[in-house]
Amino acid sequence: MPPAATTIAALAVTLAVAAPAVAQDAAAGRAKAATCAVCHGPMGISVTPDAPHLAGQPAIYTAAQLRAYRSGTRKHEVMAVMAKPLSDDDIANLAAWFASIKIDAQAP
Ligand code: HEC
Repeated sequence: MPPAATTIAALAVTLAVAAPAVAQDAAAGRAKAATCAVCHGPMGISVTPDAPHLAGQPAIYTAAQLRAYRSGTRKHEVMAVMAKPLSDDDIANLAAWFASIKIDAQAP
């Protein structure tokens, strides 16, 4: 195997091992997201100027950010409070919900 393929294979194994064994239930995530809607909007399109859109964001990214807020690796006063009570399942479900929302980008 060439070195690059070896590296990719090793990375794939690492990612598979690192991926948390949690369910991803978009419907449960949607219900849980009710508390997020005041800032991020009911469909993940932000309704406050300082909150980012979450709709259509890859689940792996959203979940990583929520875990980072929860652990304090990513610091933000409001999001630390929002993420603190979330379980790993909550995070997986919320990430699945926001990823499942279809968005449409249009050229200006
Ligand atoms: C009171 C307003 C508010 C509420 C409620 C709120 N957020 Fe946030 N959220 C923010 C703000 C502001 C940021 C930007 C923080 C930063 O700069 O790191 C943010 C950032 C995020 C990010 C990072 C997005 C990115 O692009 O990196 C995620 C994911 C997120 N919020 C998810 C949630 C979820 C899930 C909930 C509900 C459990 C929630 N938020 C509730 C205001 C809010």
